[in-house]
Amino acid sequence: MGKVATAEVVRFMSDCLKAVGTSELAAIQQADLLIQADALGHPSHGLNRLELYINDILKGTCKPNNEPRILKESASTAWVDANNVLGATASHFGMNLAIKKARDTGVGWVTVKGSNHNGMAGYWANKAADEGFIGMAFTNTSPLLAPTRSKQEALGTNPIAVVAPGSQGESFYLDMATTAVAVGKIEMQLRKGEPIPSGWAQGPDGQETTDAQLAFDTSCLMPLGGGEQTSGYKGFGLSAMVELFCGISSGANYGHHVRAWSHSGDGGPANLSHCFVAVDPQRFAPGFGDRLTDCIQHWRQLEPTDPSLPVLAPGDKEKINARDAAISETVSYIKQQIDSSSALAERLNVRPMNVELE
Ligand SMILES: NC(=O)c1ccc[n+]([C@@H]2O[C@H](COP(=O)([O-])OP(=O)(O)OC[C@H]3O[C@@H](n4cnc5c(N)ncnc54)[C@H](O)[C@@H]3O)[C@@H](O)[C@H]2O)c1
Repeated sequence: MGKVATAEVVRFMSDCLKAVGTSELAAIQQADLLIQADALGHPSHGLNRLELYINDILKGTCKPNNEPRILKESASTAWVDANNVLGATASHFGMNLAIKKARDTGVGWVTVKGSNHNGMAGYWANKAADEGFIGMAFTNTSPLLAPTRSKQEALGTNPIAVVAPGSQGESFYLDMATTAVAVGKIEMQLRKGEPIPSGWAQGPDGQETTDAQLAFDTSCLMPLGGGEQTSGYKGFGLSAMVELFCGISSGANYGHHVRAWSHSGDGGPANLSHCFVAVDPQRFAPGFGDRLTDCIQHWRQLEPTDPSLPVLAPGDKEKINARDAAISETVSYIKQQIDSSSALAERLNVRPMNVELE
């Protein structure tokens, strides 16, 4: 493992993005999205993703300095063309618009086409919650989910994020792939050279596999819930719901039409879609924040089935990780990640990260 100062990771990531022509603002916004994922304990969506973005820019399939534009809007809705910018640029544009509309009308619902991978969905929902709204963020992704009873993939890992502010500094933070896990968790097992738990992915024969390489090569993740006996069809349905809000609403690539994403940057522009929603809880019954906090604090004090594992509220794991990262002002990476970042630095002629080996 290697420990790196948070500011140093941001410096490295933005240097790499700027080295391939990205503007200062777009580079900083994308780097902040990635470092937050590392700090919250989702390393699959942090530094691990940087090289894929770089390759897309170098191939010309992502145009980081374009400007998103509104194609159609009403008081509470907007349809946006991201114009092939980085996912963070597109998502700041989309969620800012949803927040503005929620401020004016109580609700903002924005659908975005022509975008690229936008990382940890919770980052975007949280942006609205920071302004006092219930924030929701959805995105479609490359097809990786095998619908229940299918040997083939047809939908993305299509995450759902809902974040809402409570009183006393509490918040509800749900951020989840609609597959059993995000594909990045299989990549992380591969980086560590470890197998995956059963229930995550199928092999080419349609049966569950624990072989991380076979799972990665087959690219057929099981829906949230796993097989049919354990109600995996509900995860399939939720992934399809996300596609309804994203690619099907925005006219971007959708479902089985989305390209496979790889380090080669092949397959043309991703033309991904996101959906951003902000809702003002003050438009409903007074006391939203207090009731939410009452629930969150009630869940945490329930008697646990295992005394060593207290009941958590959605988001508690991320908040604990974020607090630890903020105190130490560092994040830790596995050796393979450090090595591939050094190789990337050399390739782009960028100063490598200053790493303290543990
Ligand atoms: N942009 C994309 O293409 C894309 C696609 C898929 C996933 N993702 C991201 O990948 C990340 C990881 O997704 P995931 O589904 O593997 O997350 P996960 O399974 O680690 O967590 C999902 C949710 O469950 C909560 N949780 C975890 N343990 C809990 C417990 N014991 N009790 C109560 N709540 C608990 C977490 O706080 C979180 O809200 C997310 O940030 C997601 O947005 C992005």
